[in-house]
Amino acid sequence: MSYAMRFYETGGPEVMRWEKVGVGETAQSSAGTSIILSARPASGDVRIRHHAIGVNFIDTYYRSGLYPVTLPAGLGEEAAGVIEAVGEGVAGFAVGDRVAYADSPQHPIGAYSEVRDMPVDRLVKLPDAIGFQTAAAMMLRGLTVQYLLRRVHRVMPGETILFHAIAGGVGLIACQWAKALGATVIGTVSTREKAAIAYAHGCDHVIISKEEHIVDRVKDITGGKGVPVVYDSIGKDTFSMSLDCLSPLGLMVSFGNSSGTPPALELRELARRGSLFITRPTLYTYTAKRSDLLTMADELFAIVISGQVKIEINQTYALEHAAQAHSDLTARKTTGSTILLP
Ligand SMILES: NC(=O)c1ccc[n+]([C@@H]2O[C@H](COP(=O)([O-])OP(=O)(O)OC[C@H]3O[C@@H](n4cnc5c(N)ncnc54)[C@H](OP(=O)(O)O)[C@@H]3O)[C@@H](O)[C@H]2O)c1
Repeated sequence: MSYAMRFYETGGPEVMRWEKVGVGETAQSSAGTSIILSARPASGDVRIRHHAIGVNFIDTYYRSGLYPVTLPAGLGEEAAGVIEAVGEGVAGFAVGDRVAYADSPQHPIGAYSEVRDMPVDRLVKLPDAIGFQTAAAMMLRGLTVQYLLRRVHRVMPGETILFHAIAGGVGLIACQWAKALGATVIGTVSTREKAAIAYAHGCDHVIISKEEHIVDRVKDITGGKGVPVVYDSIGKDTFSMSLDCLSPLGLMVSFGNSSGTPPALELRELARRGSLFITRPTLYTYTAKRSDLLTMADELFAIVISGQVKIEINQTYALEHAAQAHSDLTARKTTGSTILLP
């Protein structure tokens, strides 16, 4: 048995429940309740005892109902820990291995748990130099930054990019990584305190969205030209402004909805602003092939071990206090990464 955070209806952080759950293959009994079929992980799965768990904005989308989920459900897509048992047919992973994972599109969510079973094809082994807490703070966010800066658009030395929420979990990693690639980084934040954090991580120009006009400042900084790429995870509140910040033929990367779903877009708006490109990418697509997942993870581990990207764990909560972590994240009180400790 393990304790895990689950929810039976969508809503605010208060819908989360700390419960004892079975681990292993389960089925519905004739009475409709879940029964444990096996104390062993299913074929192709391993059992992981979590040492640290990542809290990501996407967790709040599932909990609130913005993203569809089958109820009752667990929460969480990212964690690090040690393998305790292996199912039949598992090759390449053994009891005692230190592992981490960031997403599992074919598997129910459930990282907010002490112990869980996971298919091995979504796991990566941790290098000795990466601790459990760092891994839980960076797998989902860092792999996201890898594909945003290296695959959606290859950030080049001398290029100027606009990245929203630059003091957040994804944002601080992106800021340092883009600087390592030789880019000039313009970031947005809501407060002066967050601006100081962004500058301390190498951001070249920080726009305080509650005090300054984002488009005017970007035009000022770029001599009226605009930027070739905008990374926008805020969504509803910034979407149109982000399009206005692009130079002709620029790329709009809309990769999140922290403020709500972006408005519908008339395609002619792209033409009017200068033949713009737009994409709405997800990590799942970019890590679907295991070979891609491993290449991306290797690149992430290398840049973190080199010291060029520091993983800032600025909030830590006990696993059973995950609701407080969600409240703080959605209230914009957090900076850098947030983790839960079982
Ligand atoms: N598509 C993908 O593959 C993918 C993968 C990972 C994450 N994401 C997205 O990336 C974004 C960042 O994720 P994260 O976990 O690292 O979170 P985060 O950036 O640490 O937190 C979100 C930040 O968004 C900003 N924000 C602006 N308006 C907001 C509002 N109305 N409510 C709440 N926050 C608001 C806040 O920063 P300021 O106060 O400074 O504005 C807040 O700190 C999320 O939108 C997430 O869904 C997408």
